[in-house]
Amino acid sequence: MMIRGLKAIATLTVVAARLVRALDDLPIYTDGSLATGWENWSWSSTLDFAATDLFVGTSSISVTSSEWAALSVKLEGTFSAYAGLKFDIAGVQPDVQILIQSSTDNSQGPAIPFSAFTTPIVPDKFTTLLIDFNALPGTGSQLGNGTWDRITFQAGGNGATYHIDNIYLVGAIVVPPEFLSAGPLTNNVIAITTVGAVNFSDVSVKLNSKSLHITSQNTYIPVDTPSKSITYLNLASSLAPGSLVITAGNTSFSHTLPAVQYGSIVQAVNHPINPHIYGVNFPTNADYIKHLGIPLSRWGGNAVTAYNPFGGFTNAGNDWYFENRASDSADDWIGWVSGAGSATMLTIPALDWVSKDASSYSYPRTVYPDQAAFDPYNSDAGNGLFPNGSYITPAPDPSNAYVPWNTTAVKQWLSGLKNKPTIVTVDNEIEIASNTHQDMHPNPVGYDEELSRVIEFATAAKAALPNVLVAAPSTCSWWFYWTSTIGYTDNAAHDNIDFLPWFLAQMKEQEKVTGTRLLDYLDIHYYFQADTSSNNDTAKALRLRATRSLWDPSYVDESWVGVNPQNHQWNPTAVHLIPRFRTLIDIHYPGTKLAIGEWSSTNDKDLTGGLVTADVLGIFGKYKVDSATYWAEPSELGPVGLAYWLYRGYGAFFGSSSAQVNLANPKPDVLGVYAGTERGKLTLVVINKDSTSSVAFDLANVPAGTYFLRHFGGASGLAKWQTTITLRSSTYIVIPAYTAIFLDQK
Ligand SMILES: *[C@@H]1O[C@H](CO)[C@@H](O)[C@H](O)[C@H]1NC(C)=O
Ligand SMILES: *[C@@H]1O[C@H](CO)[C@@H](O)[C@H](O)[C@H]1NC(C)=O
Ligand SMILES: *[C@@H]1O[C@H](CO)[C@@H](O)[C@H](O)[C@H]1NC(C)=O
Ligand SMILES: *[C@@H]1O[C@H](CO)[C@@H](O)[C@H](O)[C@H]1NC(C)=O
Ligand SMILES: *[C@@H]1O[C@H](CO)[C@@H](O)[C@H](O)[C@H]1NC(C)=O
Ligand SMILES: *[C@@H]1O[C@H](CO)[C@@H](O)[C@H](O)[C@H]1NC(C)=O
Ligand SMILES: *[C@@H]1O[C@H](CO)[C@@H](O)[C@H](O)[C@H]1NC(C)=O
Repeated sequence: MMIRGLKAIATLTVVAARLVRALDDLPIYTDGSLATGWENWSWSSTLDFAATDLFVGTSSISVTSSEWAALSVKLEGTFSAYAGLKFDIAGVQPDVQILIQSSTDNSQGPAIPFSAFTTPIVPDKFTTLLIDFNALPGTGSQLGNGTWDRITFQAGGNGATYHIDNIYLVGAIVVPPEFLSAGPLTNNVIAITTVGAVNFSDVSVKLNSKSLHITSQNTYIPVDTPSKSITYLNLASSLAPGSLVITAGNTSFSHTLPAVQYGSIVQAVNHPINPHIYGVNFPTNADYIKHLGIPLSRWGGNAVTAYNPFGGFTNAGNDWYFENRASDSADDWIGWVSGAGSATMLTIPALDWVSKDASSYSYPRTVYPDQAAFDPYNSDAGNGLFPNGSYITPAPDPSNAYVPWNTTAVKQWLSGLKNKPTIVTVDNEIEIASNTHQDMHPNPVGYDEELSRVIEFATAAKAALPNVLVAAPSTCSWWFYWTSTIGYTDNAAHDNIDFLPWFLAQMKEQEKVTGTRLLDYLDIHYYFQADTSSNNDTAKALRLRATRSLWDPSYVDESWVGVNPQNHQWNPTAVHLIPRFRTLIDIHYPGTKLAIGEWSSTNDKDLTGGLVTADVLGIFGKYKVDSATYWAEPSELGPVGLAYWLYRGYGAFFGSSSAQVNLANPKPDVLGVYAGTERGKLTLVVINKDSTSSVAFDLANVPAGTYFLRHFGGASGLAKWQTTITLRSSTYIVIPAYTAIFLDQK
């Protein structure tokens, strides 16, 4: 049995010591009032500490919290040495998150929503919930060290009503030993995930009823989620097609190993990968950049259009009731991001206004009483729409919330920066400003306005920062690649040339006139158009195949794009985004790089979002994207963060050049195979997008020998799993279902 009394990572050998040092449980509330030493730090809540309508013992606490209010308790002292928190709870699945906090330094651990527990919370009956500080519900991550002294049960935006009883800090948590999964991996490895102190002497492996000899085993505890561990069994012989059975204690795990698919890797045929394809928008902090090896970070999105660098204010437009607010400093952001080793992509405002302060807003109820919605936190700030959905008229005076902005201001700002950006983008999606920023720019932006703003602001940026690279026009989506908000009359007024091809040709023309290239990157935002929001099995499979829209001319998009081609381009129902735009660039403005300033897997929480991300990062390298930044900051511990880690984590990088991969039967709906090469060494990323079946490859030119291996997904689940293996042969390499792996030749 593994016992944890303290929060350090337990190893099997220190179990006895832990047991001796385990603390007694510490009561916070049992009956009548808070236990000695605990203070009531709640707010905006109706609390009865001696409720008798539902209780265990003699009473419980009944709680009714208004929006974002909380039951909050503080210990006179700290409780950092405890192993967990336990309580009884009743209610209609209350929308509450638990925060473990420090009143000393105002830090807090990850938020733990009630919804992260697998046990449902029901009314009229208490359910006991336990939080293991070493394996928080949801992510499985640790609470981490802190001067913890406060526990807060905070309601969500609609408040919460519930009863809570028998709240204890738990001195020790016993994790029952369990084999969670056991399966094949690569050529001759079995990966077994476990919790608790399992006994490996009872593990055996049989292939087609014959025992396989285990030559060695090694156990790895993943960084960030140390409650689970993985043990890799190295086999004396290679795996082969047939029936694989792994028996571990009283559990057995069966797998069907498939026939091989043939392929080859040709390292000699390769092209460099621009490392900027592995970028994200707004990385959380310097550790995030370092852990995931993020080489490019973008400051972008709707809120930066109104960013006033002189005051430190911004306004997210119709994303949030057209309200001004304080903003972080872009200069400081460039400073810490660059300091962590990432290049920077900075959006510069290019409309006529920026926020004037941290508090004004465009649609006060006092001026426009008749609006569809008001901010739940500021009942005077409206959403700028009449109840019937049409825009408020007359349009507000922009100077209510904004001050004028122009190229002089941009030059002054950029020249005065202490920290210089690598790339600037001329604003963000301004083709839809008459919607996102209707208060300051009510008229639809057309071809000519967009072009002239890009030329003016790019000229100003290059005057202020001679080495800066310019990316534009940061168009939001497929529809607006080809037309403007004015509509097809605007296309007609421009010889019926679709917008981005026209824009490229105009920027080339501009270079001819001035002798200076203003546009270094054509920047587009790309969001998969297929609707996968239901996230059922059909939607997941669609999400996984939709990556073909990035490259495959034979993939008719499974969305409105595939049925209603509104553009005048070749093969108009297939997106084949990267080759299409590389061709358009070659035709209209050769030498321009291609940036994808925003893109998303469509689901940051589901494993399939992580598999999509791993596939897309491979595609970006293979098809020669120059820069790409994920929208927005995917959690480092979630599936999308794991895909970045797979390619770049902790200094183990996918090869700097993309090498040729040949597959006899490529199956892009369910497979992604990407090879990298650097100094003659091979790296491979393989994504098995099939939810149930393993895949096996015979890959010519993959040398036998030592490899660093990383993987996530499949039965092993979400964690930073890794080890070093010796590949005996490349004639049978297994990738389990729903798994992405990285192999780095040593
Ligand atoms: C606890 O604090 C809340 C919020 O300030 C207050 O309404 C409530 O009366 C307090 N309860 C006790 C028992 O002190
Ligand atoms: C917490 O602190 C202990 C003792 O200083 C240290 O060994 C451990 O690694 C820390 N844990 C984390 C998650 O930082
Ligand atoms: C592990 O299992 C083996 C075989 O059943 C047994 O002999 C051994 O005592 C067990 N070890 C522990 C630590 O329980
Ligand atoms: C399997 O073994 C575990 C650990 O020894 C034990 O707790 C569990 O009850 C066993 N399960 C069955 C079905 O025998
Ligand atoms: C919506 O309501 C406003 C205000 O009452 C009105 O002026 C406008 O004509 C309405 N629009 C439509 C499309 O009905
Ligand atoms: C920008 O606005 C300032 C202040 O109104 C003005 O002095 C300056 O000439 C303007 N610059 C341009 C390029 O219009
Ligand atoms: C998946 O969800 C979509 C709608 O979101 C629905 O049309 C479809 O029938 C569902 N498919 C399955 C297999 O449940």
